[in-house]
Amino acid sequence: MTATIDAGIEAFRARADRLVGGHPVVQANPYTTWFARGVASRGEVRHLTVQFSVFSHLFVEAQLRKVINAADLDTYRSGKEILLNELGVVFNAGRRASGPTDGDDDPELVATEGTVDGGRFRFGAAHFEWLLRFAKPLGLDFDDIGKRRHGTASTLFFCDELLEVYGSDDAATAEGASYAVEHWAAAGFWKELIAGLEAFKALECAELPLAFWTWHDRVEDQHAAHTDDELDEAYTQPWFDEDRFLAGASRMLDGVQAFWDGLWRDHQAGVER
Ligand SMILES: [Fe+2]
Repeated sequence: MTATIDAGIEAFRARADRLVGGHPVVQANPYTTWFARGVASRGEVRHLTVQFSVFSHLFVEAQLRKVINAADLDTYRSGKEILLNELGVVFNAGRRASGPTDGDDDPELVATEGTVDGGRFRFGAAHFEWLLRFAKPLGLDFDDIGKRRHGTASTLFFCDELLEVYGSDDAATAEGASYAVEHWAAAGFWKELIAGLEAFKALECAELPLAFWTWHDRVEDQHAAHTDDELDEAYTQPWFDEDRFLAGASRMLDGVQAFWDGLWRDHQAGVER
């Protein structure tokens, strides 16, 4: 890279980070701040579980669209890493090449890094199945979670923005959305949800497996690092456009905010499930 490009990308990265870091949903999230206190009722934990399951299940659709619309082979492959891992291909880092596979579908034990290339597929390693196992002790079954029909208007707005913006066929828009989502996700909401869930588990649901949440918390830091590398890559491509990247980032964060604001309004209205 020439010095001019280096200076250009550094200035742009600073702009992108100001936009993400300054967005209201990154600055403050009243729902997750409240949830971390561990005072949510069982009905509120169930409501969160259902809405989160709709988002995380429909996210698979957005991820597939991102893969299909990828601008180059590298982006296509890194999109597939996320997609196939989501569906149950275990990252192969640090795993036995052969031998017993017990534990391959336990998020407590499976790797958060590596590649799906040569990784092993397990039905039980699909993130949706981890969430199913979490939902069970809450009295929620397969038919109760993860479907579009279970989503509130604000959850569905978020899911549709993911499809449109994160899965956009405009590469600069999609890159901006990825950058925003990964930096938001690495900013701490998993830890706040885990804190609240640990308190709920200790108080009234000892058998609740939290590994769906803790695994995602562990994986996020690397995702953010990957999107930093991706930005370096993307910045020099002919399709890159600063304004469309930033617009994609901003619109995606508005979608994220709609999701959490919806849950916060539901809490304030006393909605339980
Ligand atoms: Fe996931």
